[in-house]
Amino acid sequence: MFISVPRLCRVLQLTLAVIKPDAVAHPLILETLHEKILENNFIIIRRQDFIWKKEDSEMFYAEHSGRFFYQRLVEFMSSGPMQAYVLARDDAIRHWREMMGPTKVFRARHTSPDTIRGRFGLTDTRNTTHGSDSLESAHKEIKFFFPDFCVDRWMEEEEPLYRTGKVYYDPLKMIHALSIPG
Ligand code: CMP
Repeated sequence: MFISVPRLCRVLQLTLAVIKPDAVAHPLILETLHEKILENNFIIIRRQDFIWKKEDSEMFYAEHSGRFFYQRLVEFMSSGPMQAYVLARDDAIRHWREMMGPTKVFRARHTSPDTIRGRFGLTDTRNTTHGSDSLESAHKEIKFFFPDFCVDRWMEEEEPLYRTGKVYYDPLKMIHALSIPG
């Protein structure tokens, strides 16, 4: 599947998207979310399965420690497999967050029933997906999941190639790559 060049005229931004254990447990939801990512013109730069220990959850969500939902959250995030993506697109952070909808599932169901959380979320904790909320957190969170991925280097060396070159989707690996010239 080739992405045409004119569509990719604005600078690409990276974000981290996580499909949480509640969604990964349901293959059809997982497949639908992957399709949604593709339909929304995200370029999938990395995609990997993860199973967290409780300590990983505690580290990732340290900013929420002390909140009433913290224990529930860290236990849930280490309760089963999840999938993390590094996604590229213009305005990727905002766009993915808009697709997810409100954090609180009960609110999402009322105000934004067509969003990911509105459709698939189970509870405010088991809310299907996560997405970085700023450039700074995207850097931090991508590094947390993919320590060998350097956002700054990718922006400098690869972003112009993905933006102006031909990009293809590898259906086996379920990620995008730059096409080999010729
Ligand atoms: P996420 O976008 O991953 O960021 C922090 C997570 O904390 C959030 O999704 C929810 O899973 C969880 N969370 C936030 N607010 C609440 C809440 N009020 N009750 C339970 N869990 C919450």
